[in-house]
Amino acid sequence: MTTRVTHEVEGTRHAGADFAALLRPGDIVILRGDLGAGKTAFTQGVARGLGCTQRVTSPTFTICQVYELPDGAIDALLHIDLYRIGHAAELSDLGVDEAVDRGAVAMVEWGDLAPTGFGEPSWTVTLRGGDDDDREITIEPRDSARLAAAQTWASA
Ligand SMILES: Nc1ncnc2c1ncn2[C@@H]1O[C@H](COP(=O)(O)OP(=O)(O)OP(=O)(O)O)[C@@H](O)[C@H]1O
Ligand SMILES: [Mg+2]
Repeated sequence: MTTRVTHEVEGTRHAGADFAALLRPGDIVILRGDLGAGKTAFTQGVARGLGCTQRVTSPTFTICQVYELPDGAIDALLHIDLYRIGHAAELSDLGVDEAVDRGAVAMVEWGDLAPTGFGEPSWTVTLRGGDDDDREITIEPRDSARLAAAQTWASA
């Protein structure tokens, strides 16, 4: 299993920070989960794990937010929220493909709503919550080559 359970928002950020270590330039991560599941919180943790010092907020209205990263393998962090996206054209206007080709990583909330995909996601992250503060976070890599890393993340 590649699942972790968290009991508060900081735990989800921590899980995201650990997940950041698994990312490679050009990775696209689809985040699945209901409103308030913790997709943005998880992304805040990824940003922290990548060394980003800017404050990460929900891109619901901006659709795509770009965060600079310290010099390293990954060029930038794109935080995308497709909840309000209407047309495939809007998606191509964002320049996501170009940024990912240059070595950015894209975290995509509501990625399964995308009118057209960006290409195959490298990872799918699913957050499930109940009535309380518990969240179950499952990470699924596209290639089996990353499964061992995912299992290490789950057991951390
Ligand atoms: N274990 C937990 N992990 C993450 N968030 C939690 C947890 N427990 C409680 N919360 C609360 O749940 C909310 C998660 O909000 P967040 O914006 O990250 O969700 P989201 O999935 O991005 O929602 P949206 O679809 O609206 O963008 C926050 O208010 C947070 O404080
Ligand atoms: Mg969100």
